[in-house]
Amino acid sequence: MSAKPLMLAAALAAAGANAADLDFSKQPHTAQTMQVNGQTVQYRAFENIPYVNNPVEANYQTINIYIPEAYFHGGSINGYTADTAPIFLPNKIGGYMPAKAGVPGQKGRGGEDKGADAMQVALSRGLVVASPGARGRTSPTGKAPAAIVDLKAAVRYLKANDKAMAGDARKIISNGTSAGGALSVLLGASANQRDYAGRLKKLGAAEANDSIFAVSAYCPISILEHADAAYEWQFHGVNDYQKMNITMLDYNVERKLVKGTLTAAEKQLSGSLKPQFAPYLNSLKLKNTQGKPLTLDKNGNGSFKDHIAALLAQSAQTALDAGKDLSARNWLTVSGGKVTAVDFDQYAAAAGRQKTPPAFDGVDLSTGENQLFGSADQDKRHFTAFAAQNSTAPNAGRADAQTVKMMSPMPYIAQTPTQYWRIRVGTNDRDTSLAVSAILAAKLQNSGKSVDYALPWDVPHSGDYDLNELFDWIDSIAKEK
Ligand code: DHB
Repeated sequence: MSAKPLMLAAALAAAGANAADLDFSKQPHTAQTMQVNGQTVQYRAFENIPYVNNPVEANYQTINIYIPEAYFHGGSINGYTADTAPIFLPNKIGGYMPAKAGVPGQKGRGGEDKGADAMQVALSRGLVVASPGARGRTSPTGKAPAAIVDLKAAVRYLKANDKAMAGDARKIISNGTSAGGALSVLLGASANQRDYAGRLKKLGAAEANDSIFAVSAYCPISILEHADAAYEWQFHGVNDYQKMNITMLDYNVERKLVKGTLTAAEKQLSGSLKPQFAPYLNSLKLKNTQGKPLTLDKNGNGSFKDHIAALLAQSAQTALDAGKDLSARNWLTVSGGKVTAVDFDQYAAAAGRQKTPPAFDGVDLSTGENQLFGSADQDKRHFTAFAAQNSTAPNAGRADAQTVKMMSPMPYIAQTPTQYWRIRVGTNDRDTSLAVSAILAAKLQNSGKSVDYALPWDVPHSGDYDLNELFDWIDSIAKEK
């Protein structure tokens, strides 16, 4: 509900004959109450709101919106009012699967109950919460780039309804984990890009911009087009693995890992992929915060690797300062209470390989990402030249370059208006190479963005584990101006 003069009627009129359907002021609500960390929070729930006029999968293309009750009575919470409250935008996407709009207090990704979830904490701290659903890879109409188009349509809905709704649509903060983290990054990176305009129009999205204020991302499975080489850069030579059982590709259920050792053919693929990484990394011309070039030599060694080792050292130092015993970590050198060296290759071996090469574009089309890049007629396809050339699947197709582009933040970061970024990847995460998030953070920093990037100690592939810090960060950026 910002003062920005975005006329709802005018904005929606351009969207088509059913434009009035995207009018938030017509939405019914229910009054709800919950306890969050001992505090009673009252809010109104506006659920299952279609955010496009021409849905393709109406059960997923909806948004749930939750607004603190105080904002309907001129009240304030945590210094925010109906006009100034930021809008927290968590997506529930995992594994690039279809995702329903989120509901406060839903169980976590593993079905575990860890107390208040991000949506509940957001409401208790005075944020408006808007959780969009999105299409996913298992449906013929959910293939790339459907999920990102859906998230953009949801943002446009919030922008078009800024006057009708509590919360400031100029302060939207996206949040997600893993595939959801990658889409959170992509939502921020690709804001207002014309590449998506035709698809948004076809869906009957509201006529508004789709820029957001800030991005929070946990362990983003991002930069898929280079993630295979990045994985082998980190794990080449680590031949034993614990792989996710392929029949358990719904990442919302418990992750069961199956042990194995790379075959001769897989070792060969690893050996071919690893040397592809340095040329890609060097082509990005990244710099660290001091302006020093981040590069790799032909063996994959160099300042970029040292940069990641330094991030790991920082994480270890924090653990050490908190009194943790790190003596069993053979990849760390500790002297006089200080972490003095990190052996990145030993770290990778200790962390362990979780995926067989190629980690994302499987030569046998067996990965979730193969399905993400499928089409209406071919459920699974390749999306890189390397896997297409080495394919073992009969008549395998390959996604077109524009679709691959639209799923990657890298082509868009230099132009993004999104200023604030927070990225977290645990040191126990093996779902993608640490290089992926390090590249994102450096590219964003080099593009003049404010980036808060860290590798929390011993944290596995997961998200939303540091909610106090997350919402402190949101307060700090939202109250800055
Ligand atoms: C997720 C995990 C993966 O290993 C992957 O390749 C894609 C998505 C996830 O947890 O969302």
